[in-house]
Amino acid sequence: MQRILVPGRNGQVGWELQAALEPLGTVIGLDRSGMDLASPDSIRRAIRDAKPDVIINAAAYNHVDRAESEPDLAMQVNGIAPGIMAEEAKRLGAILIHYSTDYVFDGELGRPYSEEDAPNPLNAYGRTKLAGERAIESVGGQYLILRSSWVYSARGSNFVLTVLRLAREKPELAMVNDQFGSPTWARWLAQATAELLRKRELISRHSGVYHLTASGHASRYEFAKAIIDIMKEVSGIPSGWASVKAIGSDAYPLPAMRPRNPVISKDKIKRVFGIEMPRWEDQLRAFLVNL
Ligand SMILES: NC(=O)c1ccc[n+]([C@@H]2O[C@H](COP(=O)([O-])OP(=O)(O)OC[C@H]3O[C@@H](n4cnc5c(N)ncnc54)[C@H](OP(=O)(O)O)[C@@H]3O)[C@@H](O)[C@H]2O)c1
Repeated sequence: MQRILVPGRNGQVGWELQAALEPLGTVIGLDRSGMDLASPDSIRRAIRDAKPDVIINAAAYNHVDRAESEPDLAMQVNGIAPGIMAEEAKRLGAILIHYSTDYVFDGELGRPYSEEDAPNPLNAYGRTKLAGERAIESVGGQYLILRSSWVYSARGSNFVLTVLRLAREKPELAMVNDQFGSPTWARWLAQATAELLRKRELISRHSGVYHLTASGHASRYEFAKAIIDIMKEVSGIPSGWASVKAIGSDAYPLPAMRPRNPVISKDKIKRVFGIEMPRWEDQLRAFLVNL
């Protein structure tokens, strides 16, 4: 049985990974007390103790706005820790799977970004995630860097849960219609990761960066509207439940600048690993029906 180490076990993706990976080996989930990504010693010790065959790093500093005022901590967790994991994985001959983000792009290209397009992050979070990618690449070994987008799940804080809460509190929600992404259910991301691991013989030959999100894309406004429309349909909420109004992002300033259209192409992962995720609307419906 292969040993699969999952730092970040209580996060959205980490939680779903533990269920998705169970048939594939012995899963060792770690929270911050088992591996603190802000401490290189803690990372090395946890990996040397566990002696995994696979490390799937689901831990990250994910506070996009707070990263502007805590760039050093964000860099330690997102930028430096992944390189240390890569070194330890290489030493053990283990595979490292790491998650990154479409926020490494500036969103101005005008077509979906491929893995070959040049990153240009607009905010501290994106810069730290890009540093993490580069740290892994410079160590080498067997690795996959999976860039995803707008991840949600039944736990933690995410856009879907926020919209559902606000929809109960307010008659109208104002949502930006000029920022786009591919809303992705953490469960699908975890299942696609397990699928990649089932093809592990391909990983050593095809290590690199891959884009992995739901198919299709939406603006925040379209995403919020779909959440409310589907919720009304599946749970019989009265039709008077919050309506959604489109606004421009200029009307909703936040500490961190967001890329407007960083939508990523998923062609490479389909070509190399045969993996393609369902459309975002189908994932959202399946999530809300199960909520
Ligand atoms: N969420 C998104 O929309 C999104 C979009 C694109 C890419 N991604 C990427 O996908 C991956 C998974 O994201 P997610 O949404 O599942 O994240 P999440 O729910 O925020 O979970 C992150 C986990 O990392 C842990 N963590 C934070 N700092 C740590 C530290 N110093 N040491 C150890 N653990 C620490 C957190 O623990 P605590 O609970 O103790 O804080 C949390 O359990 C990340 O790499 C993220 O960058 C996410």
